[in-house]
Amino acid sequence: MQLSHLALGAFIVSAFLLQGTPGEDPQFDRGRALFDKPFSLAEGLGSPEMNADSCRACHSDPSIGGAGPLEVNVSRFGNDNGGVGPFTNVVGGQGLSKLFPPTVHGREEYPVGPGGADVFEQRQTPSTIGHGAIDQIPAAVITANEDVADANNDGIFGVARRIRVANHTEIGRFGWKAQIPRLADFVNDAMFGEMGLTTPDNGRGFAGLTDGDSVADPEVTQDEVDDIAHFLAMLPPPARGGSTDPRVADGLKTFHAIGCAKCHTPSLHSPSGPVPLFSNLLLHNVMPLGFRGMAEFGAEAGFFKTPALWGIKGTAPYMHDGRAEDLTGAILAHFGEAETVRQNYEALTVPDQVALILFLEDL
Ligand code: HEC
Ligand code: HEC
Repeated sequence: MQLSHLALGAFIVSAFLLQGTPGEDPQFDRGRALFDKPFSLAEGLGSPEMNADSCRACHSDPSIGGAGPLEVNVSRFGNDNGGVGPFTNVVGGQGLSKLFPPTVHGREEYPVGPGGADVFEQRQTPSTIGHGAIDQIPAAVITANEDVADANNDGIFGVARRIRVANHTEIGRFGWKAQIPRLADFVNDAMFGEMGLTTPDNGRGFAGLTDGDSVADPEVTQDEVDDIAHFLAMLPPPARGGSTDPRVADGLKTFHAIGCAKCHTPSLHSPSGPVPLFSNLLLHNVMPLGFRGMAEFGAEAGFFKTPALWGIKGTAPYMHDGRAEDLTGAILAHFGEAETVRQNYEALTVPDQVALILFLEDL
């Protein structure tokens, strides 16, 4: 485990050096081309449902691998008994639908009957840029920041997402609810969930093995999955803006002083050095009272992973459903565990608020 982390670290360093020299890392080039490639129906695209024909169709802001606009949001659906609970999945699961035909059970247009969907949650496309470095953060580094019982009594908890993989437990790092442990697992998950493409069984449980179209499974080879995973792993973290405006440094001080850093941890340790992601990768509930949404085992409705803030300037809109148009809107959309911290922000002078935003825009 440790060894492979170190090896990956060495690759990341070389990706930094090799940027702009195509051909030096053929697997990176192949992975990039596959991420960009529109798959065809003849290749197995769709099951037959699908949300898009390429990874890049959604992950493109500000560059390939990045975030997506509201237009490519997908929705999940379930039943929470009119908000009274308990939450149950509808037949066929929570879906992840953008373009599924209305006849698919649970979709908004589907008549709500007994056991039908009565709660929907939009999911915005997050950026994957820098996620190779996040993949290297050891589980123990993430769990070290947990505060399951709010021992320091600041109203902020923080729980790591635990996922059952084969017959052991791993820590989730990826997805809005940290529902996926490893970057490579997300390639399998997205291939099937977003594009209706089956991938080979690697025993981890994130691949879709068979689907409803007539193309022979697996529709994508293990080499292709590995190439995309390698491409994502090598995408270097977003570079800091490097502004020398003194307000940016003041903004960082404010970020700590008012409590943003309690969840948006500036950096987490990995075997190849500090990862300046501005997240603790833990689940928190910062949704307003009465929020209704998806529940999963280990991540109740309203609980989302603290998102990384590096490169945040280029990935609007914000929050899991894209409810915030800009950074100020994102801060004002923090409630629950972040109630006091948001109030601290609201109590700042306007110049201090501006400095905080300038700091975020420099990340
Ligand atoms: C229809 C739009 C869409 C397409 C196509 C798509 N994605 Fe995504 N991607 C999303 C959304 C939405 C999420 C967040 C899902 C969630 O957590 O509920 C996501 C999340 C991710 C993440 C995790 C990011 C994080 O912040 O943790 C990775 C990695 C990823 N996608 C890779 C891929 C790959 C690889 C492909 C192609 C095989 C792909 N995606 C295709 C919309 C898309
Ligand atoms: C209690 C933990 C917590 C605190 C404190 C907190 N945040 Fe967050 N933050 C989150 C979570 C969780 C989300 C994701 C919510 C969602 O997806 O709906 C989030 C989302 C964000 C986003 C949107 C990111 C994206 O990619 O969409 C920004 C920007 C942000 N926070 C900045 C801040 C700033 C600035 C502060 C201090 C004023 C702060 N946060 C305080 C937990 C916290």
